[in-house]
Amino acid sequence: MARHWAVVNQKGGVGKTTTAISLAAALAIHRRVLLVDTDPQGNATSGVGVVRRVGEPDTYRVLTGDATALDAIIPTAIGNLDLIPATIDLASADLALYELPDRERILRKALDSVSHRYDYIIIDAPPSLGLLTINVLAAADEVIIPMQCEYFALEGISQLLEILKRIRSGINPDLSIARVILTMFDGRTNHANQILNEVRSFFGDKVSNTVVPRNIKLSEAPSYGQPITVYDPRSKGAVAYTEIAKELLTHAEGRDAIIDTEEGVGSRAGRTTAWWRKRPGS
Ligand SMILES: Nc1ncnc2c1ncn2[C@@H]1O[C@H](COP(=O)(O)OP(=O)(O)OP(=O)(O)O)[C@@H](O)[C@H]1O
Ligand SMILES: [Mg+2]
Repeated sequence: MARHWAVVNQKGGVGKTTTAISLAAALAIHRRVLLVDTDPQGNATSGVGVVRRVGEPDTYRVLTGDATALDAIIPTAIGNLDLIPATIDLASADLALYELPDRERILRKALDSVSHRYDYIIIDAPPSLGLLTINVLAAADEVIIPMQCEYFALEGISQLLEILKRIRSGINPDLSIARVILTMFDGRTNHANQILNEVRSFFGDKVSNTVVPRNIKLSEAPSYGQPITVYDPRSKGAVAYTEIAKELLTHAEGRDAIIDTEEGVGSRAGRTTAWWRKRPGS
């Protein structure tokens, strides 16, 4: 079974989708990864170059039982990376889910049916705490929380932590935080450093060692339908997310997961230094 990571923060525009796409692509360099788009905006879908039309199997149809998770999976142009896409249909998911039995666990059941095909499942959550997000949290083993390095970064976090507590005391007792990731960091400003310290003192070693800098390449990549590791593997954004993917892999698989050498298998682009230990038999 894959490890399921949900990228969540009900605050809008903090870098959830950028984080989900970038980590999924970095992990896919040597692991089998499924990216699941659960946001009606469909940014994770278009961000990996997939155009989906309303009516085709997508997360909404999986949730309503009109398609299986397997039906909805499509390969992306990135090797080892598959996608369950989202369309605007998902905007009415909360309403549709409300009518269904065991409504909080529908996504979990669907993803469990395909989990054995992957090493990691990364779920991009919408900026809300409705039933759709509850489904995402029920389907996750751990959450990844991106936080934008700005004033009020911690705003809303107590609400998110409260929801996590409620999920743990009910539908998903083992849910934990994998990492908190600081995004759009601008080291030239004092306040970004202050916020970094504030978040580190709040979350302790849950905060990733690497922060994601504000990087124009990260904001350009989605318009080319490419993850940053493909669009510009040498950019600061790609390097940061690759480092965070390493941290996550060590967290999930232990130190042996990583070859700390300049040699390795290389990415499909042939430019990113590879650092994964080859899977047995791969
Ligand atoms: N490190 C970064 N540097 C520069 N731009 C970034 C960075 N991270 C994200 N962005 C840009 O900021 C915007 C918001 O990012 P993103 O869509 O990832 O956030 P989100 O939390 O998924 O938003 P939403 O809540 O709407 O789903 C996007 O235009 C994205 O390209
Ligand atoms: Mg998003």
